[in-house]
Amino acid sequence: MWSKRFLLAGVASFFLHVDLASSHVPRSHEYARALQARKYVTQATVADSYDFIIAGGGLAGLVIASRLTEDPNTTVLVLEAGESGDAVPSQINPPSGTYYNSLLGSPYDWQHKTTAQPGTDGRVLSWPRGKVLGGSTAVNGMYYVRPSETEVEAWKGLLGSQDGADAWGWNNLVAGMKKSETFTPPISDVQTTGKIQFDAQSYGTDGPLHVTYPGFMFSVVGDWTPSLEAIGIESAADPAGGKNFGGFVSSLSINPSNWTRSYSKSAYIDPLPPRKNLDILVSATVTRIIFGGDKNSAGDQVASGVEFATSATGTKKTVKVKKEVIVTGGALGSPNILMHSGVGPKDVLDAAGVNVVVDLPGVGQHLQDHLAAPVVWESKVETAGDIHASGTPFSKQAQTNSFVNSAIAYINASTLFDSAEQFQSAVAADFDAALKDVPSTSPEVIEGYKALYQATQKFTTQSVGLIELLLSINSPKAITIQAALQHPFSQGRVYINSKSAFDPIIIDPQYFSHPADIAVMREGIKLARRVGQSEPMRSALGAETFPGPGVNTDAEIETWLAGVVATEFHPQATCSMLPKDLGGVVNPKLQVYGLANVRVADSSVFPLSFSAHLASPTYGLAEKAADILKAAYTAPAPSNSTGGSNSANPSETGGSSSPGKSNGASGLTSSSGTLLAISLAGIITFVASLLR
Ligand SMILES: Cc1cc2nc3c(=O)[nH]c(=O)nc-3n(C[C@H](O)[C@H](O)[C@H](O)COP(=O)(O)OP(=O)(O)OC[C@H]3O[C@@H](n4cnc5c(N)ncnc54)[C@H](O)[C@@H]3O)c2cc1C
Ligand SMILES: *[C@@H]1O[C@H](CO)[C@@H](O)[C@H](O)[C@H]1NC(C)=O
Ligand SMILES: *[C@@H]1O[C@H](CO)[C@@H](O)[C@H](O)[C@H]1NC(C)=O
Ligand SMILES: *[C@@H]1O[C@H](CO)[C@@H](O)[C@H](O)[C@H]1NC(C)=O
Ligand SMILES: *[C@@H]1O[C@H](CO)[C@@H](O)[C@H](O)[C@H]1NC(C)=O
Repeated sequence: MWSKRFLLAGVASFFLHVDLASSHVPRSHEYARALQARKYVTQATVADSYDFIIAGGGLAGLVIASRLTEDPNTTVLVLEAGESGDAVPSQINPPSGTYYNSLLGSPYDWQHKTTAQPGTDGRVLSWPRGKVLGGSTAVNGMYYVRPSETEVEAWKGLLGSQDGADAWGWNNLVAGMKKSETFTPPISDVQTTGKIQFDAQSYGTDGPLHVTYPGFMFSVVGDWTPSLEAIGIESAADPAGGKNFGGFVSSLSINPSNWTRSYSKSAYIDPLPPRKNLDILVSATVTRIIFGGDKNSAGDQVASGVEFATSATGTKKTVKVKKEVIVTGGALGSPNILMHSGVGPKDVLDAAGVNVVVDLPGVGQHLQDHLAAPVVWESKVETAGDIHASGTPFSKQAQTNSFVNSAIAYINASTLFDSAEQFQSAVAADFDAALKDVPSTSPEVIEGYKALYQATQKFTTQSVGLIELLLSINSPKAITIQAALQHPFSQGRVYINSKSAFDPIIIDPQYFSHPADIAVMREGIKLARRVGQSEPMRSALGAETFPGPGVNTDAEIETWLAGVVATEFHPQATCSMLPKDLGGVVNPKLQVYGLANVRVADSSVFPLSFSAHLASPTYGLAEKAADILKAAYTAPAPSNSTGGSNSANPSETGGSSSPGKSNGASGLTSSSGTLLAISLAGIITFVASLLR
């Protein structure tokens, strides 16, 4: 605790509050905490029990912790595997640092790897994730994009008539997203230069997270929507309002008052006054949720606490939970925590040597991710990468460095293919073959795959983006248009193969196992090239340098894609909110099937991929989760067995009077010159750096 950060804060207070000594403030440990990162507890000061224990201090975990502790009577402990991030502000706060000076590759990054992927030339792909308070929002690219209404409603449709399903759907998710946001319109010349369109009504006005546009804009960004329009792709006038298809310049999670990254820690935790009821413990990896054998009347297992440790060899410590454990480890961390707690597919747990508490086949399944690949041209105009490389005083100003890439477009099947209907028929014809690739023998998981397949198939004839195009100008002398797959038919899984929660989770996304995904990406790359050949963009571009003229035919593009595609960093669905008989892990109240007082509330619960980057919907989900929890614990205790909750409050009810209904109810560096010369590994890093 007596960190560098404290000393710096101490120095600042010396200059700013010179009256401290004369006011006789005791120089106690408590005071030190109040002065700066006062919410962090240590292993020595953590309490024995809390109402809620939040496992994972990332995007969702910090939103929920902040909201629950608005009630001074509710005690919350956040356990975060990574550090606070307070020691590395220069690698978090300046937005453009996401390309040039980020935490990726450092101990603040989980540095996950996939298994060798047969669909991508046997390559092992890198999956970075933030391991720090704020989670992946401390390292992400700050794109702040809403999914479309159609997609969010399709997710709700999968819930059927399950109890609590009414909490979801577009209007509710938007309410959650708005609650999280304070939107600031762009500076007028930024708006003009970028040809930015938005409707402020679609955003929130007084939430903790700042959403705005960069303080500095490039003319080539303004070329984006006209170039798309010239080839028949209309612009989205209100992309946050449920119709995100077409081209637009997206909003970003940036604080315009000082041009810093706005993320879940800076938004939901740092500005809080001291809260005695909120404890945050960093460097604490949750190793398992503890089930002592108690069950509620529905037969659901009651969690008694959470076990954590600082390292694989460190002593394990336990904290008791009075109400609920909220799992917010993200799309990889949450299924990992559940499986190490004995909640997951029996075959996986048996093989790993973990005792089965609840055989829940859907945990880790339905894994979907977005894949991306770039087309690169020489640039004839100034790029953000040029300014960064110049090293001039201007290049170092905060406002200049608030520029991050944000011009995007969501493209439907009828634009990608001659006939969307033909594409849809081809997808339908492949259904039986695709079922053979489901990485589970569980009939429930297979039924879930069918349901997700059918929902995704519908998108192919709707106003839904199957491909995202992204304009990236963060490299010197180069302009890139990427294509990114938004609705994969390929689904994979994550699983564990050891008893140690410190061993890396095994990630097998089964990329490109479904041929439709390859076809969509191939057409996406062709479309990226068409945009590059469309005026006014064409005039800003020189020769195509990557993949270049040698990659032209469908076969050539497909072969090339297998060698270069990389993650767009949007894994999801590994703890899907779906009916249990569809391989679901949580019900619409976010409660884990078979558990009385454990919920999952993060990006792992979205069952169906969105045409969006995942932070915005995850903020919305986390706000809704906090509402659901508050309602569950402020409502009078249910007095009969027809209530919908499976959990009520095990500590207060002794785990016996809970409602009877089971919840089972139903980077490229600035010095890099010639792209053609970079190695394959370099290309992968390069693609990764472009995406952020
Ligand atoms: C490089 C990169 C770029 C991205 N770019 C964008 C973008 O531009 N726009 C966008 O919208 N989205 C982007 N994303 C995705 C977005 O940031 C994530 O989808 C979002 O943060 C997910 O939120 P979450 O709460 O589910 O998980 P996270 O924010 O990842 O939080 C999970 C937290 O749980 C912790 N944790 C995990 N396991 C344990 C354990 N056992 N014990 C204790 N703690 C644990 C982790 O350390 C982490 O802090 C990007 C992601 C990455 C990695
Ligand atoms: C907190 O608890 C006390 C004692 O039980 C009670 O009097 C008070 O009303 C509660 N406050 C809130 C905000 O619920
Ligand atoms: C940016 O400004 C906000 C106030 O809007 C403040 O809370 C935050 O600490 C500032 N960030 C930095 C890095 O100065
Ligand atoms: C698909 O996109 C094109 C171009 O933006 C548009 O003209 C067309 O109406 C869209 N089709 C559907 C079904 O939304
Ligand atoms: C039981 O609870 C349900 C839902 O809370 C309520 O609608 C119903 O009236 C209750 N029945 C009795 C007998 O209390």
